[in-house]
Order: sequence, then structure tokens, then C-alpha cells
Amino acid sequence: MSVFRKREALLHHYVPENLPHREGELAELKRWFNPILSENVNVKVHVYGPMGTGKTVLCNRLGYYLTDEAEKRNVKLRYVNINLAYTPRPYHTMSILMERIIGSPGLGLSPEEMLMNIVEEICREDMKLVIALDEVDTYIMERRDPKILYMLPRIHELDQRAAGRISLIYISRSLNWLSRLDEATLDTLGRTAAVKLERYRIEEVEDILSYRVEEAFKPSVVPPEIIEFTAQISFSWGGIRYALELLLGAGTIADSEGSSNVKAEHIRRVHAGIPKGINGAIYPDELSLHKQLLLKAIMEALKTDGSPYITFDEAYSLYEAECELAGEEAEEKAAIHRYIEDLNRSGYILMKKHKENILLGMEYPFNRLYETLIRTIEETRRR
Ligand SMILES: Nc1ncnc2c1ncn2[C@@H]1O[C@H](COP(=O)(O)OP(=O)(O)OP(=O)(O)O)[C@@H](O)[C@H]1O
Ligand SMILES: [Mg+2]
Repeated sequence: MSVFRKREALLHHYVPENLPHREGELAELKRWFNPILSENVNVKVHVYGPMGTGKTVLCNRLGYYLTDEAEKRNVKLRYVNINLAYTPRPYHTMSILMERIIGSPGLGLSPEEMLMNIVEEICREDMKLVIALDEVDTYIMERRDPKILYMLPRIHELDQRAAGRISLIYISRSLNWLSRLDEATLDTLGRTAAVKLERYRIEEVEDILSYRVEEAFKPSVVPPEIIEFTAQISFSWGGIRYALELLLGAGTIADSEGSSNVKAEHIRRVHAGIPKGINGAIYPDELSLHKQLLLKAIMEALKTDGSPYITFDEAYSLYEAECELAGEEAEEKAAIHRYIEDLNRSGYILMKKHKENILLGMEYPFNRLYETLIRTIEETRRR
């Protein structure tokens, strides 16, 4: 006997049927996008807000809605969410898009050629495309090639038949990334509507968790005071994502103990085992692929070395080795420098300067983080 009714409803990528406290924003997005179901128009919208405010899940819910509506009206429509944090170059972005639309990754083609293939396909199939460019801010702030932001909205210049077929959602934590774009690219983004998601208040988190618990657990397994307790803890550590992780872990412990309900002690135990940085829980799947590879290299070096710190150069050469293993081109030292500063700022690693050297370390045992990271790198590369 398990406490769960539907365990997978607690996993990060699950898209629940309802989104309590985001009904207004969903309705607004539907209003922006409804015209694409009946007219030849492309819509461009920013969806932005702090971490964990439901940007990804909201857009994916919109994606389901649009695909359903299109089907009812005999319109061919595809929704694709691409996480740009994981795509180091336009080549990777286009390759993912091509894989999702055509079913082949377009190996050996240039991004422009891949886009032409995609355009051919959607014109031939008389199809509309809604592309959510998720974590576009990470992509731009890490100074990756902004060409995709130029290519996608101007697709009709490549092929007139593509006009009105591709709509875009730009998902980001804030709109700061726009200041990094050149005039021409900004121009193409020009008339873009914006939906801002505010941070959830604690009562809202409780409502959302009650709903998620109802879906995932059997009735009365998680009493209201445990939901409140979980909301309270998660509020300062990473929000709903953290809360769902606590609930999933606590339910698993309850099952292993043969307990018929989730207890405060189960929650506490999971809470204590989750690696945290200065900004709350840390999730390697939030990092770009190269930051993940770098972090892995740092951990490998610290493990082998046994001392609290390693030098930047040691980390860099191991990072190069990791890239080779992963079939990725290593980035320049200057970029890695910036990544190290980012990783330090978000609490993944410690950094200190010693004479001319930069020393890197980690302050907590990293078994769990290491395992998660290995899994995440696999998943990231498969996406
Ligand atoms: N209103 C809601 N109802 C139900 N679940 C929600 C709601 N808002 C967020 N969630 C859940 O909370 C978690 C975080 O949401 P999501 O990943 O969409 O946030 P985000 O804004 O994209 O965060 P990030 O900036 O880190 O990418 C997900 O598991 C999501 O399913
Ligand atoms: Mg997201």
C-alpha cells in the first residue's frame, strides 16, 4: 500500500490540469494567442517573473490549450518549449526545434539550413508553430549568439509562405537581458506584449500545494497542517518546486516505513538532506550545460585532490576533459571565469583569491549533488 495516488504528479516537469492563482495570467495569454487559431498572424509575448513563479508550467499549459483548440478546429498547430539554458549555440537550438518538428536533428546542417527545413515542413503541412524560448535571459546573459532571436521573428523574410505561422514566447526571470541586444535584434522584438508573474504569497503557496497534494496523494494522507508546514519551510528555500520535492521525498519515506500518512518528521528529514546555497536550494538542472560540465569538473578535482581547494587551472583542464567526453567544444577561459563567478554567487561553490591564483572549493558533502548532476547532464544532453 502506498500513500501516493499519482506519484509522477510531483515531478518537476509535470503539467497539472489547473494552475491555482494563475488563472488570470492564463486567460490573458489565451487572449493574446487565440487569434492564431483563426487568422494568419504571429504573436510575440514576454512571460517574465522571478524563479518558481510558474512561468514554464503556465506556458506549457497554454501550449496544451492551443493544441487542443487547434485540433477541434482542424488546424495543425504545434507548441514547442526549448530551454535555451541548455543550448550553447544557435546550432543546438535549431537542432532541437528540427528534431521536435521533423523528427531528425539535422546533423551537419547550419542553423539557417535547419530553419529552412523547418519552414518547408510547416508550409507543406500547413502548420502553425508556437515556440517558447525558455530561459532566454540565461542564454543572452551568458553572452551566447543572439542570432536565433533575429532569425525566428524574421522567418517570413526567408520564405514568404512562412508569414503568420510562427509565434514566439520569450520566457525570462526579468527583462534585463533586452539591454544586451543590439538595435537590429531589439527592433525585431519590438512589438512584444508582456505578462508579468509576481511572486506567490504564502497563502497562495498553501492553496497550490493543497491542489498538488490532492492530485498526487490518496485522500487524508497529507493533513492540512503538514501542507502548511511544508509551505512555510519551502517559502524561504526555493518555493513550490522545493515543496514538491519535500512532499515527494516525505511520501517515499512514509511508504518505506509502512506509515499510512506523511508526518512532520518525514518532511524534516528530506529538508535536511537537500543541498543548499546562499539563495536556497540549488538545482543543477537550472544551470546551462557548460556550467554543469564545469561544476562536475570542479567536484571531480576536489574529490581526487582531497584538499579543500583546487586552482582555477586545475578546474579548467578537467573541464576541458569533461567537454571532450561529452563531445562538446570547451569554452574560453574568460567565459569559464564568468561562470565560476556565477556559480559562486548562487552558492554552488566557494571562491577565494590567493596571490595570483583563484581557488575553488565546496562547503558541503557533494554525493547527492554529484549524483543529481550526472543525471542532469545526461538529461540535458538528451533534450
Ligand atoms: N499556480 C500553480 N499551480 C500548480 N503548480 C504550480 C503553480 N505555479 C508553479 N507551480 C509548480 O511549481 C514549480 C515551479 O514552477 P515553474 O518551473 O513553472 O517556475 P518558473 O517560473 O519557470 O521558474 P524558473 O525561473 O526557475 O524556471 C513547478 O513544479 C510547477 O509545476
Ligand atoms: Mg522555468
